[in-house]
Amino acid sequence: MSVRLFEGKEHALSYWKYRISPSEEIINKILVFLEKHRSRPFELVVDVGCGSGQGTVLLGPHFSKAVGTDVSPAQLEMARQHSSAENITYRECPAEELPFENATVDLVTSMSAFHWFDHPRFLKEADRILKPKGCLALLNYTINDMELSYGDCSNALSQICKEFADALMPYRNPYLGTTSMDHYKKAYNALEYLDKEWHETLQTRKTVSVSNYIGLVESFSPYQTILREDPEKARRLSQDTTERLLKAMGVTSPDTEIVLSVRYYCLLACKP
Ligand SMILES: C[S@@+](CC[C@H](N)C(=O)[O-])C[C@H]1O[C@@H](n2cnc3c(N)ncnc32)[C@H](O)[C@@H]1O
Ligand SMILES: *[C@@H]1O[C@H](CO)[C@@H](O)[C@H](O)[C@H]1NC(C)=O
Ligand SMILES: *[C@@H]1O[C@H](CO)[C@@H](O)[C@H](O)[C@H]1NC(C)=O
Ligand SMILES: *[C@@H]1O[C@H](CO)[C@@H](O)[C@H](O)[C@H]1NC(C)=O
Repeated sequence: MSVRLFEGKEHALSYWKYRISPSEEIINKILVFLEKHRSRPFELVVDVGCGSGQGTVLLGPHFSKAVGTDVSPAQLEMARQHSSAENITYRECPAEELPFENATVDLVTSMSAFHWFDHPRFLKEADRILKPKGCLALLNYTINDMELSYGDCSNALSQICKEFADALMPYRNPYLGTTSMDHYKKAYNALEYLDKEWHETLQTRKTVSVSNYIGLVESFSPYQTILREDPEKARRLSQDTTERLLKAMGVTSPDTEIVLSVRYYCLLACKP
């Protein structure tokens, strides 16, 4: 089964504005793994479920060509608008039917998207297009242990941040269960490639304003569900969280900047 979400224009716009991308360190980890198996120069990377292309543009410079793919025209439009490099292009297609010839791709990545795909069909498709010793990198981050820091009130902020995430839990798509990390772990265990690695503690830090942080959480699918079911409740949740954060920080402007840290997890595997 695959699940289709995130396709609306509004949602695509909020994605582009607020989503965080993996740190240089995470991108490096992927490249180091790839380099163990295939030698440079790397030809082609395909970033599946690329959304508005935040991850695709980070990979581009390391390959002759990067192609981001997604089912959402709105997301792809956003990606095209914000990327100028000639060797980064975007294609509209499902993850389960990738428009590439057999054995032509060095690296297949998917960032915060794999849990929406039909896993067996996607993995088969990735296997088909990967070159021998080509690699697969699937990553995501956890909503539940995001942390915020600001001066000496970081503990209080992280607690508020955790309560915000907890309030979304009941609205998670049942398809995901309580944590989509399980999806990735299961996929990791089931993967037939023997040469594989699992990484769990890759931090990404980003300086954002309080309202950016709220915007990021509002772009998550459980929040979007609350917004559809009970817009007033959604609005109140964001507003309460904002007020509590500002109060704990002792400031009044939601433009005040804080450091958001997010934990990524990542499955790396190499085709025989
Ligand atoms: C959470 S977003 C991730 C976007 C981006 N990779 C990032 O790191 O922020 C998930 C993306 O997967 C796409 N998607 C969902 N199901 C898909 C499928 N079956 N095939 C291709 N893309 C899909 C959605 O349209 C959406 O853009
Ligand atoms: C692809 O574009 C990036 C700049 O975005 C550049 O660093 C890289 O060298 C390019 N690769 C080729 C083969 O042109
Ligand atoms: C491509 O690979 C698939 C499965 O891996 C195979 O069934 C198909 O025959 C291959 N096509 C070509 C043109 O080699
Ligand atoms: C993985 O990312 C998606 C979208 O960013 C999110 O909805 C999902 O909850 C994440 N997984 C976990 C375990 O939080």
